[in-house]
Amino acid sequence: MVKVKSKWVCQQCGYETSGYLGKCPDCSGWGTLTEEVTAKDNKAASLKFDKFPDSTPQLLRDISLDENIRYKTGMAELDNVLGGGFVKGSLVLIGGDPGIGKSTITLQSSGNLAKTGLKTLYASAEESSSQIKMCSERLGVDSENLYLLTETNIEEIKKGIEQISPKVVIIDSIQAVYSMNVSSSPGSVSQVRECCSILMNLAKCSGITIILISHVTKDGVIAGPKVLEHMVDTVLYFEGDRYKSYRILRTMKNRFGSTNELGIFNMESTGLTEVTNPSELFLSERTDSITSGSVVIAVNEGTRPILVEIQALVGTTSYPTPRRVATGIGYNRVLQILAVLEKRVGLNLSKQDVYVNAVGGINTQEPSADLGVALAVATCARNVTVDPSTVIIGEIGLSGEIRRVSNLEQKISESEKLGFKKAIVPTSNLPVKNKPENIEIIGVSRLIEAISKSISG
Ligand SMILES: Nc1ncnc2c1ncn2[C@@H]1O[C@H](COP(=O)(O)OP(=O)(O)OP(=O)(O)O)[C@@H](O)[C@H]1O
Ligand SMILES: [Mg+2]
Repeated sequence: MVKVKSKWVCQQCGYETSGYLGKCPDCSGWGTLTEEVTAKDNKAASLKFDKFPDSTPQLLRDISLDENIRYKTGMAELDNVLGGGFVKGSLVLIGGDPGIGKSTITLQSSGNLAKTGLKTLYASAEESSSQIKMCSERLGVDSENLYLLTETNIEEIKKGIEQISPKVVIIDSIQAVYSMNVSSSPGSVSQVRECCSILMNLAKCSGITIILISHVTKDGVIAGPKVLEHMVDTVLYFEGDRYKSYRILRTMKNRFGSTNELGIFNMESTGLTEVTNPSELFLSERTDSITSGSVVIAVNEGTRPILVEIQALVGTTSYPTPRRVATGIGYNRVLQILAVLEKRVGLNLSKQDVYVNAVGGINTQEPSADLGVALAVATCARNVTVDPSTVIIGEIGLSGEIRRVSNLEQKISESEKLGFKKAIVPTSNLPVKNKPENIEIIGVSRLIEAISKSISG
């Protein structure tokens, strides 16, 4: 008879202990440990894995590389985020909030992959065949190479995979599937880990690309243990404002490409369409009437320059400690910029609340946004405006100097394309190579100089 044992597992980080604890010693989460029942022979069952086809030592130079190692999805934004398409035999995790469009993006891309002749299996553990059929008709997904399986048992899914031997498999979602080897409920850490390791083994041994859809917890991290992120090759997050139609796809980890890339999509009734010019989208709601505290900056997200509007609001505080709120810009970065404005420009903000917002839901970490933030705050505090056809680029040092930024050439040409007439840039970046004709470049070396040169009128 199999002896039944139980353990307490942290649902956030996967920490295991034999008894209950209120606080996880590993990730410090409160009330995150839940009891999971495990059969004693559990370990032996989960170790019954296939061997890698090439599990003998070989010379690196003798290994031949398959030319068609990447599968293009036909969605340029997705391919770009992945570093050129799905890699053969890789395990990709796509996480996101409920209803953000994870099933939509995978269904659309699997339809495209199937059209290129790749046998694709969409295994859904959340929706019935007729529901997926209805969705695929709306999205215009149809191909003779696209198979559908509605199943929650991972062993049955594995059988289905062995039966039709597809090149690409989608599991929707990893939290809804379960393995017979583990007796805890679907979605628990042990189940997710077990199912993921079965799929990882399948991907690496038979060269099948497996895409896992995963839910995120209310804190925005992928539900299930951190080990899930370690096990897979690529982690993508699908995010966006649920009240707006655009969605952003980010890479958190990529073994086969850069993690800085960003894909932008628009959710329409016929599915997700790619947004090829994100700057236009982020600046679309900008009003022509000039208000104080609004400037346009240029930042790079991966290899692509994006123009974003920064808004600031400065007002007398009614609290003992003034409030500082930053949305879309690093909070500490904003505090540092405010300190430089106080010390080097003489702007007194000690009794003022300051709100800074990067419009459009983008979240930028690029230092070249500094100068834009400083100018938005300074112009709002002094109730003056920055010329609306000026784009602001520059990093601020602690002594108030404007520092060199990277990829300036790209940022300037993107600004010119969108009709900007002037660019305030760091002097140390001058001269700008391949300067477009229709844009005037103004070099600045100090913050105070930047403020005086950018104010309109
Ligand atoms: N007819 C429609 N017109 C426009 N948008 C639609 C339509 N039907 C669905 N959508 C969009 O698709 C979204 C649902 O997409 P999808 O089912 O791919 O999300 P999901 O991330 O897989 O959700 P879940 O986590 O529940 O599985 C809806 O939130 C909505 O924005
Ligand atoms: Mg779904």
